[in-house]
Amino acid sequence: MFYETKRNDHGLLFDPFKSCLVPRPIGWISTLSREGVANLAPYSQFQNLTFDPPYVMFAANQKTDGNRKDSVVNAEQCGEFVYNMATYDLREEMNNSSQEVPPHVDEFELVGVTKVPSTIVKPFRVGESPVQFECRYHQTLRLPGNGTMGTVDVIVGRVLGVHIKDEFILPEGKLDILGMRPIARLGYHDYACIESLFEMVIPGPNEDVRLGMEGRRKHGV
Ligand SMILES: Cc1cc2nc3c(=O)[nH]c(=O)nc-3n(C[C@H](O)[C@H](O)[C@H](O)COP(=O)(O)O)c2cc1C
Repeated sequence: MFYETKRNDHGLLFDPFKSCLVPRPIGWISTLSREGVANLAPYSQFQNLTFDPPYVMFAANQKTDGNRKDSVVNAEQCGEFVYNMATYDLREEMNNSSQEVPPHVDEFELVGVTKVPSTIVKPFRVGESPVQFECRYHQTLRLPGNGTMGTVDVIVGRVLGVHIKDEFILPEGKLDILGMRPIARLGYHDYACIESLFEMVIPGPNEDVRLGMEGRRKHGV
């Protein structure tokens, strides 16, 4: 089948678009409002952009009332945000933190996760999450869209610091991803959980590329 997105004439009962780009990592983003209220929300339009230095992005569509989301406003005003890894064990808390609540509500308290101070930035980290990035706001890219929710703010941040729980570092020097069990978004109401992995080594004679990909060198590709 083929359909044009401007017509969205796929003919299916459920829009297939989000299912065509899976799995999407979930950036569980914590910020601090100007008034000092802790905010927490999941964003599956989330990715790393590069690694030297590392940058990440999350893309926030506008709220149903047409206002910009709290994570966007806070990241811009405070100049900082934190990425927390969402895991299978934290799935309910992550999901509950997606509720649209007024900015004065502390969403760490709302969903019952532990506020842990960051080392460099002001927003708190989710204490139960195995990995957190402390990020400095870099730039907003605003893409026009259809309707009040269509317009999206792409927030780019530079990763200043990385926290990894020691219990998830294997003796061989790699992370215990199967132990962490990160979750990712699919389409519809579906999620995936990383419960298996397989290895492939990049072909070709370039040793730097191979070691970079593996992460053995300081900066990978
Ligand atoms: C797993 C998951 C992924 C989500 N991904 C996004 C996303 O990429 N962009 C977005 O605008 N909203 C996304 N949402 C909805 C936001 O989390 C929700 O609108 C939240 O209330 C935003 O909070 P904030 O205003 O405090 O930033 C997602 C929700 C869930 C449960």
